[in-house]
Amino acid sequence: MDLIEAIQQRKSIRAFTDKPVPKETIMEILNIACRAPSAMNTQPWEFIVVTGEKLKRIRAAIVEKLKSGAPIVPDHLVVSWPNEGVYKQRQINLAKQLFKAMDIPREDKEKRAWWLERGFRFFDAPAAIIIATDKVLGEAGPLLDLGAVMQNICLAALQFDLGTCIEDQGVLYPEVFREQAGVPPTKRLIIAIALGYPDPDFPANLI
Ligand SMILES: Cc1cc2nc3c(=O)[nH]c(=O)nc-3n(C[C@H](O)[C@H](O)[C@H](O)COP(=O)(O)O)c2cc1C
Repeated sequence: MDLIEAIQQRKSIRAFTDKPVPKETIMEILNIACRAPSAMNTQPWEFIVVTGEKLKRIRAAIVEKLKSGAPIVPDHLVVSWPNEGVYKQRQINLAKQLFKAMDIPREDKEKRAWWLERGFRFFDAPAAIIIATDKVLGEAGPLLDLGAVMQNICLAALQFDLGTCIEDQGVLYPEVFREQAGVPPTKRLIIAIALGYPDPDFPANLI
């Protein structure tokens, strides 16, 4: 795939088929993505890849926390909620587009909660990649480098007919990864990427 075509084609995919993603493919994508530039060549990225039964357990634990109203304790404030101006408007437009595509009326609290939960479920993707970094590097320092590797993952995935959704929702309960995947407290979870083969019929994938 042509590079410019890939950049233009990448979009967030929010539903996937059940087809598992081969481990070798994920490894190849990550190896390619690690060609990203980094300040002083520090290469501050680390990846936690979860699939299969482990992903099911992590998904269940996150949803349990969400449903119980457990407060989110992210390692890093990924998204600053826009309260004004063009940023707020873009956020509203996105929500309107998604809810229209999914036929979720504004007043339908149940369906809205279902939609919210899908994000925390990694959109039921067969694989989730968590990008992490070591706390020794401080909070802001590695972020540009991690952003570069994040975009590389999303672009490289296209070459394998895979879709991605970058999502902070996946790392809002980092303690679940510590408990279920043995991630040490010295690591800061920055962002999640849901990864899988796109469901071509899912309305939100068509916007
Ligand atoms: C840092 C970051 C966090 C994001 N978090 C979420 C998320 O939690 N849930 C979600 O559905 N999409 C999330 N997105 C996807 C954005 O909504 C999406 O990239 C944006 O609307 C542009 O659409 P596109 O990716 O289809 O081009 C995130 C994207 C970024 C870069």
